[in-house]
Amino acid sequence: MRYLTFALTKGRLAYQTLELLEKIGISCEEMKDKKTRKLIFVNEELKLRFFLAKGPDVPTYVEYGAADIGIVGKDTIMEENRNIYEVLDLGFGKCRMCVCGPESAREYLLHNQLIRVATKYPKIAKDYFYNKKNQTVELIKLNGSIELAPIVGLSEVIVDIVETGSTLRENGLGVLEEVCPLSARMVVNPVSMKMDNERITSLIRQMKAAL
Ligand code: PRP
Repeated sequence: MRYLTFALTKGRLAYQTLELLEKIGISCEEMKDKKTRKLIFVNEELKLRFFLAKGPDVPTYVEYGAADIGIVGKDTIMEENRNIYEVLDLGFGKCRMCVCGPESAREYLLHNQLIRVATKYPKIAKDYFYNKKNQTVELIKLNGSIELAPIVGLSEVIVDIVETGSTLRENGLGVLEEVCPLSARMVVNPVSMKMDNERITSLIRQMKAAL
């Protein structure tokens, strides 16, 4: 039997994924050690391999077949737009993609003004403003702490992930519009899905039952 390889998103999603896998009898003790510098972990008995990657790289590994299966946020799946199958909503990592800003920016969204939008997700933001709202905007790509942009005057609004809303609240900003709900998803390489269909569908079935 060949190894099935999982690419997990580094951080909280990975821990929640390991918890779920444990519920269906798949364990990878080594991986839970936060101090380890090891990159890849093997479960010899079940012929499974696991590695951790940055979120945006997970769909890339899966598209090329370097990983058969990936666990990654819906935001990243939409932004990366890779040729992969999304097969299961894991229900954790729940949050929302939103247009946010100061209350004073709300009118710019109503009157179709040419505003600046800062975001880590230019593709999602472009799709939302151009295709859904028919509003031409100037997109500014940032890599983190997006909430800063409207505070210092880089942009009128931002498109970003909102979980508890406390980052917005603590910075005098709020949700102006919701783009879409988000959560962690399981993705599969299309060729793996054909070649190892039985093994992968059985895994999906077990994970679904454990959710
Ligand atoms: C994310 C997101 C928001 C925050 C939302 O940032 O970009 O800033 O979390 O969470 P909240 O609604 O619970 O406050 P993250 O912490 O991932 O870091 P980043 O700013 O570097 O993107």
